[in-house]
Amino acid sequence: MCGIVGYIGEKQAAPLLLEGLEKLEYRGYDSAGIAVEDNSGNIEIMRAKGRLSCLAEKTRCGKALEGCCGIGHTRWATHGEPSECNAHPHFNDGQTIAAVHNGIIENYTELKKKLLKRGYSFYSETDTEVATKLVDYYYEKHGDPVKAIANFTLRVKGSYALAVLFKDYPKQIFAVRKDSPMIIGVTKKEALLASDVPAILKYTKNVYFVENSEIICLEAGKAVFYNLDKEELEKTPVKINWNAESAEKGGYEHFMLKEMHEQPKVVKDTVSYYTDGEKINLNRSGLTGRTIKKIKNITIVACGSAYHAGVVAQYVIEKLARIPVRVELASEFRYREPVADKNCLVIAISQSGETADTLAAVREAKKLGMKTLAIVNVVGSSLARVADGVMYTYAGPEIAVATTKAYSAQLIAEYLLALKFAKVRGTVSAEKYSALLSELNALSGKIESILNNKAEIQRFAAEAANKKTMFFIGRGVDYAACIEGSLKLKEISYIHSEAYAAGELKHGTISLIEDGTLVLGVLMQQELLEKTLSNLVETKSRGAYVAALTYEGMNKAKEIADVQLVVPQTYDVFAASLAVIPLQLFAYYLSVLKGNDVDKPRNLAKSVTVE
Ligand code: F6R
Repeated sequence: MCGIVGYIGEKQAAPLLLEGLEKLEYRGYDSAGIAVEDNSGNIEIMRAKGRLSCLAEKTRCGKALEGCCGIGHTRWATHGEPSECNAHPHFNDGQTIAAVHNGIIENYTELKKKLLKRGYSFYSETDTEVATKLVDYYYEKHGDPVKAIANFTLRVKGSYALAVLFKDYPKQIFAVRKDSPMIIGVTKKEALLASDVPAILKYTKNVYFVENSEIICLEAGKAVFYNLDKEELEKTPVKINWNAESAEKGGYEHFMLKEMHEQPKVVKDTVSYYTDGEKINLNRSGLTGRTIKKIKNITIVACGSAYHAGVVAQYVIEKLARIPVRVELASEFRYREPVADKNCLVIAISQSGETADTLAAVREAKKLGMKTLAIVNVVGSSLARVADGVMYTYAGPEIAVATTKAYSAQLIAEYLLALKFAKVRGTVSAEKYSALLSELNALSGKIESILNNKAEIQRFAAEAANKKTMFFIGRGVDYAACIEGSLKLKEISYIHSEAYAAGELKHGTISLIEDGTLVLGVLMQQELLEKTLSNLVETKSRGAYVAALTYEGMNKAKEIADVQLVVPQTYDVFAASLAVIPLQLFAYYLSVLKGNDVDKPRNLAKSVTVE
């Protein structure tokens, strides 16, 4: 959701800005632009609607803009249609200030009116042009970029990551952020700014995470951080353990395919990090035995696939640890005036750690005095900093918009929590605990074996390619896997699908089943098998084309299903980890067959930093 980059150093900025923006493409965008300060100190801007390749063509791969200091932007339209005119960077009236912005300025209409009265004119429909001219207004007033930006932050409502070039301050980039991510990297002779780590990994692994309302002044080889009173701040960089190659396709056709194939490793790494033989150690997340014993109930907040991972956690934690769990969409939790409960642990799940609603939900929970824990993938992200405790997932950078490996790592974190809670609270026997823990170690190999046998799923996808709609049904954890499978399908193949708790189908939706409708049943919960099978039969007798996703050797499904897909056996509580793999692959192959942009599906953004 909009990407920002900035570069100041000895090299030509424009090609590096384009390269950095490419690394942020996954965030989603519909236009792009760069501003470079040329050798005579003028700021030049070039923008283009559409893919980065259009901007690259227009700028002759950056050669058309000469200079060693610049800012770049990929825009995901919020205010005003995707167009060259609305694309960033934006200029002030005198073309002496250029800015890029990520986020939403909520009071931009009011600010625009004020600026119009003061004689400013506007050429675009964007809130960013308003932001640029507001900075200009305060710069004219105070004659100092840091003071201008400080005044800007006091006047503006909403979220922003803003990077600004001032013609009067050559070879410097000024920036600020509130509730939109921004990171800084400094090398000996360069300084870089970006919305996310992959854009600067090639240059440095030491990253400064900018806090809300911190103002930064970048010069080659230097970053100075200020508070709103222009007092200098001491900041320490965080070491990122990702390498630049982990953000490359590595020979795979798509990032999504690569990331699905990384799942065995991701699962193994996440399990290993928190276990030591027979012990699960969550101390680093702030969860000691004493804290765990105090928890009376759990609320999970998240969005999208992370929410779906939360639905799995609800089943697993309740089953193993006997703690009541409620899962909520973060966007609902934040506004429903939740009741304060000091014994409630609020768990926020997020890959990026920057999702606006999830962050707001955690802030709300903290305001109400509840203890918060973040299950998050990006080290040092906003969520990781806001929550009381953090349990990192070890998925590495995830580039494809549709999450796969981060979701799988989230499931592992949840299983570890469930098992640890169960152990501390004495709700599982020592034998069961050991058996479950050893199965947790075996999951990685089982996922690998599914990935090694994907031809069957590819064939099934080819059969399903002409379907207009599909149903996924299951019960318990299988239902949780269904909602994720259905989302994957919708987001990348653009085929409509519904995920239903199998028992709920005949309360209305079964009316949609007609001749040839594809119904895929996930059948891994042993105790509920007969029930879900009956539900599949009900759809088949109404003309459905039935597929069953089961454990190996589940012969009963063969009698009913037109197609059977199998995965190795596991404990039912861990079933989602295996069920989701064929569902991800199914969505992937359908997307490829339809010629879609698998890694960057239409209208979607990887990191949703606005509400
Ligand atoms: C779907 C997907 C999204 C994210 C959601 C939350 O494939 O990736 O639904 O899960 O936007 O994002 P994070 O996990 O970054 O908070």
